[in-house]
Amino acid sequence: AHVWRGVIEEYRDRLPFAAGDPVVTLGEGGTPLVPARALSARTGCEVWVKVEGCNPTASFKDRGMTAAISRAKALGARAVICASTGNTSASAAAYATAAGMTCGVLVPEGKIALGKLSQAIAHGATLLQVEGNFDDCLTLARKLAESYPVELVNSVNPYRVEGQKTAAFEVVDVLGDAPDVHCLPVGNAGNITAYWKGYTEYVRDAEQPGPATRTPRMWGFQAAGAAPIVLGHPVDDPETLATAIRIGNPASWPQALHARDSSGGLVASVTDEEILAAHRLLSSEDGVFVEPASAAGVAGLLQRHAAGELAPGQRVVVTVTGHGLKDPQWALRAADGGDVEPVRVPVDAMTAAGALGLEG
Ligand code: F0G
Repeated sequence: AHVWRGVIEEYRDRLPFAAGDPVVTLGEGGTPLVPARALSARTGCEVWVKVEGCNPTASFKDRGMTAAISRAKALGARAVICASTGNTSASAAAYATAAGMTCGVLVPEGKIALGKLSQAIAHGATLLQVEGNFDDCLTLARKLAESYPVELVNSVNPYRVEGQKTAAFEVVDVLGDAPDVHCLPVGNAGNITAYWKGYTEYVRDAEQPGPATRTPRMWGFQAAGAAPIVLGHPVDDPETLATAIRIGNPASWPQALHARDSSGGLVASVTDEEILAAHRLLSSEDGVFVEPASAAGVAGLLQRHAAGELAPGQRVVVTVTGHGLKDPQWALRAADGGDVEPVRVPVDAMTAAGALGLEG
């Protein structure tokens, strides 16, 4: 049987790791690419979702973290640091622990999902709630990494992008070629940068004919209240219920523009209502439970379809970046905005059958 060895071993020939370099892995990558029947039916396209919530810490960040922490280990680092809206901190904390390093995480006060906060604490990180937003946290983390003996493991670290590009490789390896369109949420813009790097490297391959004959159009989606790339200027007070992408000044902004423009793609915004509707559709009709930020790519696909910008029959991959259990409260909201109340029944088959709508 084939045992998945984590993204560094699986794609070593395309990553900056030599034989003998330390590898810190928790078995990340190899995530499911799932046909999304409801989304396909709605759009008239062949839609697949890349379920990144199936990574070890339940988000795509693990692909980059195995690379960044392995590199930090090769450099002899004892400590790492990151700014985070939650998922990066969970991932950094887990991989640092596996590497025997300490981890400091800077998160915006009161704005990170409980699941992510719990993960960082469970993995032994020192967590600082900063009186500011993500952008402030990143500025602070950069300053600390400049002046103190600590490695920065945010996506401004090139090893993060190297690791994350493997998701594009996996898509092509499963589908046999790149899709027509690739949708994903955009926050700090590391992931759109990484996918574009992966897709282009799989085509442009000097030695062998590349596994892909083409690159997809990259469609990135920001939350409307945190859409600096769409607006063309930084947003001072970013606001969205999708806290993972509550970012006003993305570090990889130029790289995101490059991915958009060289792919013939777009970066657009989706409202929190569109995000929640997509979140509900994906869980209730396609069986995939994601956190709100991850639904932004789905919301964007539906929005562009409604705008008539999606030709029928295209092959579309949507990356759903993090697991629904990270931030589960949104599922308990009914479509009308009220709370979902569980139905109570006595230990009685007839009553239970009635409540379930079963007919005998
Ligand atoms: N989706 C989720 C679930 C995320 O956690 C993030 C980013 C993104 C999408 C956006 O990816 O930043 O590469 O454009 N989360 C970072 C964090 C900022 O700190 O966990 P991006």
